[in-house]
Amino acid sequence: MSLLRDVRREFGEYNLIESAKRLVDRKPLQCSLYVTDRCNLDCAYCTEYDNSRPHPSIDDLKKWVRKIRDLGTMRIALVGGEPLTHPDIVELVRYCREIGFATSLTTNGFLLTREKVRALEKAGLQTMQISVDRMTPSPITKKSFKTVLPKLEYFRDSKIGLHITGVICKDTLPESRAVLETGLSRGIPTEVRLVHADPSNRFRVERGSIEELEEFMESLIERKRAGEKIHTNEAILRYQLKLLRNEPHDWTCTAGYKLFFVSAQGKFWLCSMKHTDKHIMDVTLDDLYANYRKKDCQKGCGVYCAVSTSLIVEKPVQVIAREVASRAKRLLTRREEADVTGAHGVNAGSNGAPAAGGGESSRWPANQQPTEQHPDVDVATAGNQPQPALERAEVV
Ligand SMILES: C[S@@+](CC[C@H](N)C(=O)[O-])C[C@H]1O[C@@H](n2cnc3c(N)ncnc32)[C@H](O)[C@@H]1O
Ligand code: SF4
Ligand code: SF4
Repeated sequence: MSLLRDVRREFGEYNLIESAKRLVDRKPLQCSLYVTDRCNLDCAYCTEYDNSRPHPSIDDLKKWVRKIRDLGTMRIALVGGEPLTHPDIVELVRYCREIGFATSLTTNGFLLTREKVRALEKAGLQTMQISVDRMTPSPITKKSFKTVLPKLEYFRDSKIGLHITGVICKDTLPESRAVLETGLSRGIPTEVRLVHADPSNRFRVERGSIEELEEFMESLIERKRAGEKIHTNEAILRYQLKLLRNEPHDWTCTAGYKLFFVSAQGKFWLCSMKHTDKHIMDVTLDDLYANYRKKDCQKGCGVYCAVSTSLIVEKPVQVIAREVASRAKRLLTRREEADVTGAHGVNAGSNGAPAAGGGESSRWPANQQPTEQHPDVDVATAGNQPQPALERAEVV
């Protein structure tokens, strides 16, 4: 019985039949909807916010969401700007769920309150990505565990699957390992990924030492293979390593087809970097299919959700088999540990939520609950040394 429970926990999030359909038909799998351009922060690497624009109305958002669903899209990722600044975000989540979307939301976490988490959960939100770049804030990015860690407590017993994603650049790299350890040690699938390529030089950040970045990326691949909860698939980690080494990678971008973006003005975008002036209400399935082609912006592309979906569409068996192998390894390790200690892990799995790019989400392991007791400790060095999971959980 407990083996079955473990297997369900590890693999339950895959809606395999539904997802498999999208690999063979011409309909889209996922849309990222900018619910607003407005943001309460100003990360130096970000070009995706604009506080001069008003929030779109809930009526417009619902109209666009209905259209996106009518195109056959299965999953919707609510992004921004900062989605939690939109006054009607809970109503929008509820509507997305009512019309059948698997629904996720990406947030910097600053506006999370216990009440907001409960309201989002009640509205049916399945997955939340909290972005955390560092242990402590810096002039480049304020998204740090110092702010987010106390808020993780709100997810105790929540049905919302949680995962953490950080951006790696020169400013964050010295703390990226600690961010990873802090997330993983609490049983939260965690990922850190390279800052996007910056062809138009709009970011106010440097990328950092290539050697250090390569070494870090290699360690992520090893840990993923060993079954750790790195919230991304191996294919996308390998892709990032190739980017760093400037090695060629042959792939066909499916942005604008299997996944697409809709701006906070309702415009159809292929991805966060490639915009069009066409309104989502005018888009047809033929328009989408016309975007199934190699694109002149592919070289160095850092829109990892688009690359990841494209790699899965291209080689579904290979990418999914590797992910399944990694999780099976974790399952085995956990059971071996449980046999030794006589206790089974209590890490709840996710709940059918969209986990773009073969990622995963988690609810809290009861033995690794977040703590509010040390929000001011020196978190900068936390997690630098490899430690047993439970010890690491006490570090921050
Ligand atoms: C644009 S933000 C919107 C949601 C929310 N404000 C947040 O920060 O999570 C969505 C995600 O894109 C990431 N992001 C923004 N600019 C990026 C860049 N230049 N390179 C890599 N990731 C980036 C953010 O860190 C975040 O995880
Ligand atoms: S919090 Fe998100 S949207 Fe706001 S500036 Fe940072 S990355 Fe951009
Ligand atoms: S190659 Fe990258 S930047 Fe170009 S459309 Fe595809 S995802 Fe967007």
